Amino acid sequence: MSLLSVIIASLLVTLTAAKPSFTGDNCTITEFSQVESVSAKCTNIIVSNLQVPGGETLDFKFKKPGVHITFEGKTTFGYQLWKGPLIRIQGVGITVTGAPGSVLDGQGALYWEGKNGKKTKPKFFKIKVKEGSVFKDIHLLNCPVHCVSVSMSDHVTLSGWNIDVSAGDKDELGHNTDGFDISETNNILIENAIVQNQDDCVAVNQGFNMTFRNLECIGGHGLSLSVGMSHEVIKNTVANVTFRDSIVKNSRNGIHVKTHTNSGEGLIRDITYKNIEMTGIWRYGVNVEQDYKNGKSTGNATNNIPIRGLTLTNVNGQLTGPESVPVYILCGSEGCENFEWSEVSFRGASNPSSCNYEPRGFHCPK
Ligand SMILES: *[C@@H]1O[C@H](CO)[C@@H](O)[C@H](O)[C@H]1NC(C)=O
Ligand SMILES: *[C@@H]1O[C@H](CO)[C@@H](O)[C@H](O)[C@H]1NC(C)=O
Ligand SMILES: *[C@@H]1O[C@H](CO)[C@@H](O)[C@H](O)[C@H]1NC(C)=O
Ligand SMILES: *[C@@H]1O[C@H](CO)[C@@H](O)[C@H](O)[C@H]1NC(C)=O
Repeated sequence: MSLLSVIIASLLVTLTAAKPSFTGDNCTITEFSQVESVSAKCTNIIVSNLQVPGGETLDFKFKKPGVHITFEGKTTFGYQLWKGPLIRIQGVGITVTGAPGSVLDGQGALYWEGKNGKKTKPKFFKIKVKEGSVFKDIHLLNCPVHCVSVSMSDHVTLSGWNIDVSAGDKDELGHNTDGFDISETNNILIENAIVQNQDDCVAVNQGFNMTFRNLECIGGHGLSLSVGMSHEVIKNTVANVTFRDSIVKNSRNGIHVKTHTNSGEGLIRDITYKNIEMTGIWRYGVNVEQDYKNGKSTGNATNNIPIRGLTLTNVNGQLTGPESVPVYILCGSEGCENFEWSEVSFRGASNPSSCNYEPRGFHCPK
């Protein structure tokens, strides 16, 4: 054998034996055991057809900015009863992309048990990032419970997501499968997403300056704010949030703003819903309630988290079924001000609207 062919042969052996495989600065993860070493070394990471074992988090945490992660093929997460998350991504200036045809499969059907279920189910995708991080074209399939949670983040964009938990509609087994939950997060944009699930499409808990646009929400509980789970004022404060150019279909609610009565004080201000189309809404077109306690409306509204500024422009809803109500507003005695509504209309409801506070520009019987 010539010296050259020995060199080539050993080079080939080295290349094929190398795990993770390096292509320049590119590193591909195909086995769970590679995650730690690859994250430590690489800035361009490809996760390819990875099977994550049950009870493990696919955990990426970066101190250096500018890391790219690409999901290729099918990433699956093994069954285990635990709280998760199945994936967590933390860092600054991170870009995460789903390659065409890729999917992250939470295998929700193994967990779903309807609304009175007692199993601890893993949350799916947890994001804690800053400084211009972008997550695009991610396809999440069958979340066991809550799908995406963005917390303690700043300047982050989620674009082109497809969250599909529609299989959980079968026998009403899927439950608490929130699409996007946002807490302690400022300056976030979520756009061009489809969410098919059994709970809120978006639920904002805390933060400032958020835009949600071009969303299509199917089968869930609508575009929501749920504020007041804390005893700290700042954690009960939401301001400058806009939902626009979106469609809510076959859902319990179109728009839902609720505050919790048994928390500390807080504030909701400058919330806008613009160009929202609803079809097949079976409970409330718009529901604003300041009487939430332990996960239920009590009928006793309080002023601890006032809503100052709820603007609706060009919001149109088609309701359906015996329980349907266009607008239901239950404010504390001084809980609501500056509701400015224009071009807001509903059709097909079985019951009249009911409001103890009437928005400007919308007639609603007391
Ligand atoms: C690294 O991966 C990215 C994304 O897949 C690709 O665009 C780029 O060409 C790759 N670079 C090399 C040196 O393989
Ligand atoms: C609001 O958030 C968006 C999206 O992240 C960002 O582009 C914009 O600069 C933010 N506005 C302010 C005033 O920080
Ligand atoms: C909300 O937006 C207004 C007007 O754009 C701005 O003056 C205010 O500082 C913002 N507040 C927060 C908390 O982002
Ligand atoms: C509402 O508050 C009143 C007075 O605090 C109390 O008597 C009543 O039981 C409350 N109703 C509900 C439904 O919690």
